[in-house]
Amino acid sequence: MSAGGGAGAAAAAVAPAQASATLLQVRDLGVTFPPQRGRPAVRAVDAVSFDIGRGETLGLVGESGSGKTTTGRAVLQLQSASAGSVRLMGRELMGMRPSELRTMRRHMQFVLQNPYSSLNPRMTVAQILAEPLQVHRTVPARAVAERVAELMTLVGMDPAVVRRHPHEFSGGQRQRIVIARALAVNPAFVVCDEPVSALDVRTQARIVDLLQSLQERLGLSYLFIAHDLAIVRHVAHRVAVMFGGRIVEMGSAEEVYGRPSHPYTRALMDAVPVPDPARQREKLAQAPVDVDFHAARSPSGPCVFGEDHAQTGTPEWHPLSPTHGISCRFHPPQA
Ligand SMILES: Nc1ncnc2c1ncn2[C@@H]1O[C@H](COP(=O)(O)OP(=O)(O)OP(=O)(O)O)[C@@H](O)[C@H]1O
Ligand SMILES: [Mg+2]
Repeated sequence: MSAGGGAGAAAAAVAPAQASATLLQVRDLGVTFPPQRGRPAVRAVDAVSFDIGRGETLGLVGESGSGKTTTGRAVLQLQSASAGSVRLMGRELMGMRPSELRTMRRHMQFVLQNPYSSLNPRMTVAQILAEPLQVHRTVPARAVAERVAELMTLVGMDPAVVRRHPHEFSGGQRQRIVIARALAVNPAFVVCDEPVSALDVRTQARIVDLLQSLQERLGLSYLFIAHDLAIVRHVAHRVAVMFGGRIVEMGSAEEVYGRPSHPYTRALMDAVPVPDPARQREKLAQAPVDVDFHAARSPSGPCVFGEDHAQTGTPEWHPLSPTHGISCRFHPPQA
């Protein structure tokens, strides 16, 4: 299905928990990868709708292959979408002219999982941080060095080390540099895709703290993608649960964690943590997600309405509260 108005209504029903202005509005976003070498078409993102308020974090959780990264990339217009609308600060990004999109890019940035591969090993930290400033010309050339030093301080690093190369730093320090690079141009919105999953547990906590304090200081909005449900619970104001390219449940963190209402959310929360995500990916890769993913792998068991989700059908959005809802085929009687 393409939930059309249904999913749009979903996001409208699930308003940002904070009384903040909407920064990002995503409606009925769809991404389909065409068939390739015998592999069927993949509907990686299907009728996804959500809002993110200023200063708010929306957590996006779901198993490997559920479409989280593709959603983040499509929102940032790094991946072309086949359907939907993405409005940032009131401006429609879908179909925007490349020159306008380049201008909008300084308002939206990406922090990726792997601090080892996302920094050019041949560049110094000073060069890495100066690059976005030069591309977007946000500061005059004579002020670049000063801004680079300011960015280092912002992420808790000593500005004296900017002549070093990425390999001279620890994983956590490199992720700080990645964050500084993302913040160089003063974005309003940052997609953090598994920003700490390559780090050890103690470093994870420090980077998560850094992201939160930066949010408070700079009023940033985050789409925070992660496998780790405990981290998402800690950082997110609201949480969206993704399954087979769709959002199956969304609500405030308290609601989704306190009253998981879709069988998939419940399964996800009951699941034993996977010690080795690479192995999980390997296993899931053997069962490629295709257009029938949702039908073939519908989570079984009852949702909050007692409806067994093992059957196939077209789900609709059902609000459970002004800020919480699930995608379900069942139509409960209107109260
Ligand atoms: N460039 C691409 N070409 C074809 N299919 C793709 C491409 N990128 C992603 N996919 C497919 O789209 C689906 C969603 O992938 P995506 O990477 O968005 O999932 P994810 O939720 O981020 O997973 P993970 O938790 O492992 O990072 C998967 O079936 C994946 O194989
Ligand atoms: Mg991903």
